Amino acid sequence: MALLPASTCRRLRFIFQTLIKYLHGFVNETDLTTDEWMAAIQFLTRVGQTCTPLRQEMILLSDVLGVSALVDSLNNPVEGDATENTVLGPFYTDDTVHIANGEGIASEGKGDYMYVEGQVLTTEGGPIPGAIIDTWESDSDGFYDTQYSNRSHPDCRGRLRSADDGSFGFRAIVPVAYPIPGDGPVGELLLTMNRHNMRPSHLHMMVEAPGYHKLVTAFYPEGCKFIQSDSVFGVKKSLVVKLEQIDDDDEARKRGFPVGASFKLMRLKIVMLTNEQFKYYRAKNAKSKETV
Ligand SMILES: [Fe+2]
Repeated sequence: MALLPASTCRRLRFIFQTLIKYLHGFVNETDLTTDEWMAAIQFLTRVGQTCTPLRQEMILLSDVLGVSALVDSLNNPVEGDATENTVLGPFYTDDTVHIANGEGIASEGKGDYMYVEGQVLTTEGGPIPGAIIDTWESDSDGFYDTQYSNRSHPDCRGRLRSADDGSFGFRAIVPVAYPIPGDGPVGELLLTMNRHNMRPSHLHMMVEAPGYHKLVTAFYPEGCKFIQSDSVFGVKKSLVVKLEQIDDDDEARKRGFPVGASFKLMRLKIVMLTNEQFKYYRAKNAKSKETV
């Protein structure tokens, strides 16, 4: 192993000493048997063996244990009306389609129509122009484009920039609930714990602008039956949004939907922290003195 800087070594020692302290406490409190510890070791071994370049069972384990969501929350403190962060999930890819404002991210037939419109703002309410907005979602069958072995091009994902007044808009599809992979050891764990493996319907979004802290988030339409029991704990109250039902020919044509008069409308207000604000709030909320 390469030589690590002294501050990193100090932090590593602190992390491992704390982990060992809680691990010993866990073994004592549960009065763990030899067979149970061996079963745990075999389970973790199978989690590792299930990983491939395309499948990350270890991250899935961290997700269903709520550790990914907790680490994300600790590292992205909530401040004022700044938009909250949430888990990135395994389906983001840089291979996307660049679109102009008002264009679509999903090909025809991928799901029911939805139009997303909003504004990227500072905490003072000023517009953030030129913000890069990445967005992605599953199709109406609950699969991301990257889950299809015959994927030839990006679908249900796109990248656009906010306009001078911070506004943006694009055609998408109404998100649906979908299962996380349940055919491996993590799926068995959920079954044993009497938990389902569903994620509530959501639209992912990642927003970047020079001078602002990168935002990784998702928006959850209200009313999904899995919203209170997300298998990876990604839902936050402030990220639950209402979808409006629009039934108007003119509105549908104006937004570029080719057929019918009906679509859902998702309205968003995205508030970003500056890098300085983020640094200040992160330090203020730090739980440990032994931070890096
Ligand atoms: Fe997702």
